[in-house]
Amino acid sequence: MTVTAIFGMHWGDEGKGKIVDILAEKYDIIVRYNGGDNAGHTVVTDEEIQVASHNIPSSIRHDRKVHVIGNGEVVNLNNLLYSEIEGKEGLLSVGVFPSPERLVLSDRAHLILPYYSKVEERKELSRGIGTTRRGIGVAYMLKADRTGIRVLDLLDDGARFIQNVRIHADEFGLELDPEQLLEEQRALLKKLQSYLSVQDTVEFFRKNVGANVLLEGAQAVLLDLDAGTYPYVTSSSTVPGGSYTGALGIPPIDNFIGVMKAYVTRVGAGPFPTELGTAADIENVSKDNPEVLTEKDIERAVKGDSLAVGKFIRAKGKEYGASTGRPRRAGWQDLVVAQYALNVVGGPQRFRYSVAVTKLDILDGLPEIKVCTRYGKTGHFPSNTNLLYDVDPQFETLPGWNNTSGVTDYKKLDGNAKAYIEFIHRYLDVPVSTVSTGPKRGDTIQQVLPDVY
Ligand code: GDP
Ligand code: IMO
Ligand code: MG
Repeated sequence: MTVTAIFGMHWGDEGKGKIVDILAEKYDIIVRYNGGDNAGHTVVTDEEIQVASHNIPSSIRHDRKVHVIGNGEVVNLNNLLYSEIEGKEGLLSVGVFPSPERLVLSDRAHLILPYYSKVEERKELSRGIGTTRRGIGVAYMLKADRTGIRVLDLLDDGARFIQNVRIHADEFGLELDPEQLLEEQRALLKKLQSYLSVQDTVEFFRKNVGANVLLEGAQAVLLDLDAGTYPYVTSSSTVPGGSYTGALGIPPIDNFIGVMKAYVTRVGAGPFPTELGTAADIENVSKDNPEVLTEKDIERAVKGDSLAVGKFIRAKGKEYGASTGRPRRAGWQDLVVAQYALNVVGGPQRFRYSVAVTKLDILDGLPEIKVCTRYGKTGHFPSNTNLLYDVDPQFETLPGWNNTSGVTDYKKLDGNAKAYIEFIHRYLDVPVSTVSTGPKRGDTIQQVLPDVY
């Protein structure tokens, strides 16, 4: 029996979905333990079919495995049914058919009701976090307030559901019809039950004793409610420890795999020390209105112009949010952040840890790569987020590389790309278990450094 946890080491979108999809082969049960449809995970099959998941584990296309939406997730039943499963780009549209035998929804998971996003809109006006506006923070806030509404509240007489909606209507000054909401939510759950089964995960794991379990963390350490760049964080425990409360009943974790990109991106507001340009530079672009990378831009990026490098990364890396279509802010690799993420999750002892480095191919063609190895003013990653605006990142410049796209053998990788991976390996003092060289499943190098690992 093995239990492995996957977690993001930056501010999300590191390519966790791809890594989970690859590893799922070796596991029996795959569990998501936090977040909701703020997450967007894209998996590309070798036949170039894109499978996008938001609440459901990224492993869902493995049809002989069981996939679990843990109690630590918050679930918008409407989006789960009509977007993630039955939507235009949903699972059914790409030939993935969830079934009650292989998709489990924890009965303790909290729901996101339609009015939560309205409450969030109002909060955003005064806070400016740059949330996904999916009502995620509101669901976790109400959970802590003990007026949250859970899946299991749809399965009894509904008294608790109605009572809590009345409390919310009062507190938020909203006109709500609790009975109608209950009826709607029950109808959604009923429809969903042709794709999933509602279960108590404590009993589920007890019955599946001895199974190999893969834990999929959404978001990342720098977005964790406690460890991240508070208040510019999401509202859940994204760190693997979050799975002990977000996936009740799981056995102890044996291995930890942190996922990091060859560069860094961030969506939403908050400090970003290695950012190329500023968030304001990309205010008018989106997934539907992306930047066009011209020959001139490439020329500028090659010369090291930071705005052009940011554009180069965003355009080549398709760095637009999978859930919201917002452009992702782009920056050079930040090993102070990656080191901090490992320190948070594992402390100084790293013997059960490894990292996966993704999107190496996106930097193909740049003559030089910069890597932040130290923060000038603080030396380390500061706990006070305000200090992060002013840390003065110190960079090392490494030679760039070419033609890494689709490489599957470490020996065949451009020497400078290998030197970069070795640099990360030495700096973080952990094995590099995987290097990803493209979006497809097969564009992957496994068991990289050290050779014996
Ligand atoms: P997640 O939220 O951590 O699961 O990451 P996302 O799925 O939001 O974003 C990662 C994006 O990069 C997805 O569109 C992946 O298909 C893609 N991707 C993952 N690894 C690689 C890689 O090595 N190279 C390229 N070019 N794309 C990748
Ligand atoms: P995956 O799992 C990147 C960010 C939002 C915002 C902040 C709070 O795909 O890596 P929220 O709606 O959660 O209250 O927003 O967190 N955020 C993410 N950024 N990837 C994600 O998920 C994210 N989920 C939330 O952009 O800055
Ligand atoms: Mg994502």
